[in-house]
Amino acid sequence: MDDEAEAIPVDFNEHTATQAVQDGFGKTPDPRLHEILTALTRHLHDFVRETRPSIQEWEQAIQFLTAVGQTCTDTRQEFVLLSDVLGVSMLVETLNEREGGTESTVLGPFHMVDSPPRALGDSIDLVGEAEPCVVSGRVLDTDGAPLPDAKVDVWQCNEQGFYDVQQPGVQPSGNGRGLFHTDTEGRFRFRTVVPSHYPIPTDGPVGRLLEATGRHPYRPAHIHFIVQADGHTPLTTHVFVAGSPYLDSDAVFAVKQSLVVDFTESDDEEEAARHAVQAPFRHAEFDLVLNREPTR
Ligand code: BEZ
Ligand code: FE
Repeated sequence: MDDEAEAIPVDFNEHTATQAVQDGFGKTPDPRLHEILTALTRHLHDFVRETRPSIQEWEQAIQFLTAVGQTCTDTRQEFVLLSDVLGVSMLVETLNEREGGTESTVLGPFHMVDSPPRALGDSIDLVGEAEPCVVSGRVLDTDGAPLPDAKVDVWQCNEQGFYDVQQPGVQPSGNGRGLFHTDTEGRFRFRTVVPSHYPIPTDGPVGRLLEATGRHPYRPAHIHFIVQADGHTPLTTHVFVAGSPYLDSDAVFAVKQSLVVDFTESDDEEEAARHAVQAPFRHAEFDLVLNREPTR
């Protein structure tokens, strides 16, 4: 007699369901995939047993996830936005962070793979209608040694809260963006405008989720950075503008106190001339610290 004929099927019920599905994944050859699917099944089933959705509610949940997928295009990633507003993006970021360097935070959807290369001191503000702002500092290793020729990729929205890609034909392409290389002392500097706080995209299912739950969609004012140097772990982070609205209620939970920086107002004409801006202007100065790449 073969085993199949002797096996007595176990009824699929509330108590046997989890083991049955986990057994189904029992032959997964990749141990990490097996670990993840086993845990996913346990947590998902516990969630369903706890919340006991009606058939209609489960259909609604599937419809919501379908709409999230259907909203994704080459330039819009609604699943990332969902992960962001659920705090999962930041949780993954935080769990992967190493001690020592500047804290990291979410990448967000507005990064351009090919930022326009610019020389140190250049302006990333291609419009020139708002109060100028100078951003400067150093890229260092965790011992405080400068990292020359580090790549500093920056992007930000304008003073009205829009990225260039959100306003084609209104803002020049590449406005608010630049790829810089630090000098021999690890220094970077560029001119810009102080970015505004702004709402994440709300015209899709994630926006409807925020609306249904009484949550606002705003992010506090910030400048994005990706910093890279040979032998060091790349850093994806923001610098937040001290005093901005929503620092204590970021829609994507990305604020860390260590990343909040003063954008100090100055009306010193001489200092303004040294930075090639008109007074009054704002100045933010901070260092970005990279961890050494882990040795295998
Ligand atoms: C951003 O800062 O660009 C961003 C981050 C997460 C969601 C939406 C926007
Ligand atoms: Fe942003």
